[in-house]
This record gives sequence, structure tokens and C-alpha cells, in this order.
Amino acid sequence: MKTLSNIKAVQKILAPLRGKKRIGFVPTMGAFHEGHLALMRRAERECDFVVVSLFVNPLQFGPKEDFAAYPRSVPSDRKMAQEAGVDLLWTPTAEEIYPSPYRTFVDVEEITRRWEGAVRPGHFRGVATVVAKLLQVVQPDRAYFGQKDYQQTRVLRQMVKDLHFPVSIRILPTVREKDGVAMSSRNQRLSPAERAAAPILFRALTQAETRVRQGIHESRPLLKEVAALIQSEPLARIDYIALCDPASLEPIEKIQKEAVFLLAVKIGSVRLIDNLLIRI
Ligand code: PAF
Repeated sequence: MKTLSNIKAVQKILAPLRGKKRIGFVPTMGAFHEGHLALMRRAERECDFVVVSLFVNPLQFGPKEDFAAYPRSVPSDRKMAQEAGVDLLWTPTAEEIYPSPYRTFVDVEEITRRWEGAVRPGHFRGVATVVAKLLQVVQPDRAYFGQKDYQQTRVLRQMVKDLHFPVSIRILPTVREKDGVAMSSRNQRLSPAERAAAPILFRALTQAETRVRQGIHESRPLLKEVAALIQSEPLARIDYIALCDPASLEPIEKIQKEAVFLLAVKIGSVRLIDNLLIRI
């Protein structure tokens, strides 16, 4: 596996492969866990050459968010990427991604208005801008993302469609710990007591799914039950729970065919998100 930081060096390696080899791309912010590795391994199975970018993108963090505290572990990330079969690890610098003065941004409208977009103003502008730039450099055939960040996957699908990026977006299921907690770099910041409380998100989603299977399809009773269950956990504070149309992410009153439950819950000081897609 090669590790490169410079954009021109990355382009030089990729240019001769285009049209001959299928290029798979996994954009990341590092601190790899099984969720990232599942994306890399799938890319490795489906593509001839796998590029992983590792860039903690300052543009997607708000002024009060955890950019400085975001976990960074490049040496162990490099080892894990190599073991997962990655061909090229790209670790760009902020100076090269956002040369000064920097003036070009990507704003995806409507679908970014609610949920994470409302709680984290500017977050999706940062995500869309950096992913557009990374795709522009790598020009992959396939790009891989995890379903855990459900709204992000919808935003990126919309952006790729609107901007005619010739890439197929692959969304892989959330990888979970044995007790159901969705893998996330942020889990590292949970204290032992908070970690013990964290499975409440998955329990709530599982209960909602059971109730849907039992025939409750209206959002009001479903959300009420889910909220009550989460509130029974003393360390948990609900940020939002929503039952939405899986494409538009607008709230729905009743599940017709499919829906997505979106959850954001603070466990102590750590904010966790999770989601569940339901088809009836
Ligand atoms: O999901 C992430 O890790 C980031 O939002 C992404 C897609 C790598 C953009 O920085």
C-alpha cells in the first residue's frame, strides 16, 4: 500500500488506471473501526484498485464542535488499511484541500435543512464540499459510505446526481458492536457508564421495528414509545427522533411502504446518531 499526501502525486498514480481498472474509493476521517474496514473490504472485493482518503475536514465542524478533539491515529489507521487490502492511502493536508483564499463551496438544499443540518449548521456544506473535491481528484468508479450517517448518504447521492459525477455510490449497512451500538469514532469518548447506556439507541430502534411489524404504522404512537424508552435511560437526552420519508427525509405521519427512523441522542456529553430503514 502506498501512502501519499500530495494531490498531484495521487493523480499521477490514478491517471493510467482510468478506464482500465475499476477504482473504488472510501473517503474517511480516520480513527478506523470495523465500519470503515467493512467499506474497504467491500471496495477491495468489487474493485481493482482501492483508494482511501484520510482527512479530518475542518469545514464540516461547527465552531463549538470537536474538530481539535477528533480522534487521530494515522499509524494504526495505515496498518489497518493495508490489512484490508487498500492500494493507496491518501492523507491530504488542509492547506492543499483549502488553498488560501478559498472561495468555492457545495450547498445541497432542502435535504440538509432538518435533523443534523438543523443541529449542525454548515455541517453538510462542509461534507458536500470536501466530498466533491475528493471525488474530483480520485474520479472513482465506485465510492463507499456507511448507512450510519443516513442523512449524509442522501445528501451525497443528491450532490452526485445534481453535479453529474460519474460515480456509483454504494451504501453499506451499519456495523454494530455485539450489544447493538453502531460503530463510530465518537464511541471512544464515552465513559464506561456512558458506554453501558449507549445500547439504548439500538434498543429503541429495535422496539420501533417490532411495533411496526405488529401493525402500528402511525408515527405518533411509534415515536411516543421510542421516546419513553430512551428517556428511561438516565444518561440519555434526546436531540431528535423522527420517522421520515427515506428519500426526502421529510417527516411522515404514517408508513405507507417504507420509512426511516432517525435518532440523535446525547449520552452524557457525547452525541450519538443512529437510524433504521423499515419496509412493510
Ligand atoms: O463520514 C465521514 O467520515 C465524513 O463525513 C466524510 C464523508 C469522510 C467527509 O469528510
